[in-house]
Amino acid sequence: MKTLREIVLDARNRKVAVGHFNISNLETLWGIFNAAKGLDVPVIIGVSEGERDFIGVPQVVALVKSFHEEFDYPIYLNADHTYSFDKVKVAIDAGFDSVIFDGAKLEFEDNIKQTKQCVEYARSTGRDVLVEGELGFIGVSSKILDAVPEGVDLSEKSLTDPEKAKQFVEQTGIDMLAPAVGNFHGMLRGGVDPKLNIERIKAISQTIGIPLVLHGGSGNQEDDFRGAIANGMAIIHINTEIRAAYKQGLKIGLNENPDEIAPYKFLKPAVKAVQDVAEKKLRVFNNL
Ligand code: G3H
Ligand code: ZN
Repeated sequence: MKTLREIVLDARNRKVAVGHFNISNLETLWGIFNAAKGLDVPVIIGVSEGERDFIGVPQVVALVKSFHEEFDYPIYLNADHTYSFDKVKVAIDAGFDSVIFDGAKLEFEDNIKQTKQCVEYARSTGRDVLVEGELGFIGVSSKILDAVPEGVDLSEKSLTDPEKAKQFVEQTGIDMLAPAVGNFHGMLRGGVDPKLNIERIKAISQTIGIPLVLHGGSGNQEDDFRGAIANGMAIIHINTEIRAAYKQGLKIGLNENPDEIAPYKFLKPAVKAVQDVAEKKLRVFNNL
């Protein structure tokens, strides 16, 4: 079985991207797994601090590991947006394949200092745990939005600067970088977010030479994904569209079976709705 590092580097070389989808429960995990397995592509499961608190850290590790082992499948677990070294350490110790230290809101020097501490800890374990750093603020919530999130500036001057990114990568030793390139967390009501800055993605990728991660993928369109992947994005995160599909599927399940009390029956449409969204994205990310 390939390591996550091998999977990501291979994706970057082949100009495809690994899909990263967030979960809050087992049904969502099944939907995403079914989609990936149906297409025979690797997949990353992400859990934010809130999602981890809800599922349980050892529990989510055990769940994803069970899919990895039972199906001998390239499915990996990422500690998404983690805001403290202590929580990064907990995730690494629990057996996550990768962690994100999110210092996007910190001053540049402080972001470097704390991200570097996470990288050093990951290396000290002797396991190959990938560490992703964040540079450029892109908002914090995976939800339906009426406007671009407060504090997010999509103008060129506020996007991640390639030279600063280079300095950040060199001083922290991170394995992957999440830049601000016109993306943001959440999705505008209506489902279409502003276009990404593909030129900036290209410039950052060429300058830093490590895989890039596109966050806030919900609401971005197919041509943007293709441009982003062709220019260095090796992982793409989707959460809002997964959450919306789950809720919609759940509503259908409840409405269609008003007297049903067996969760495994009324939750089936939720699993299917998640699976459909994940499959659609994975087809684009993997050029299928
Ligand atoms: O880390 C999670 C993602 O970046 C999800 O963003 O909710 O806009 O898809 P999204
Ligand atoms: Zn994100």
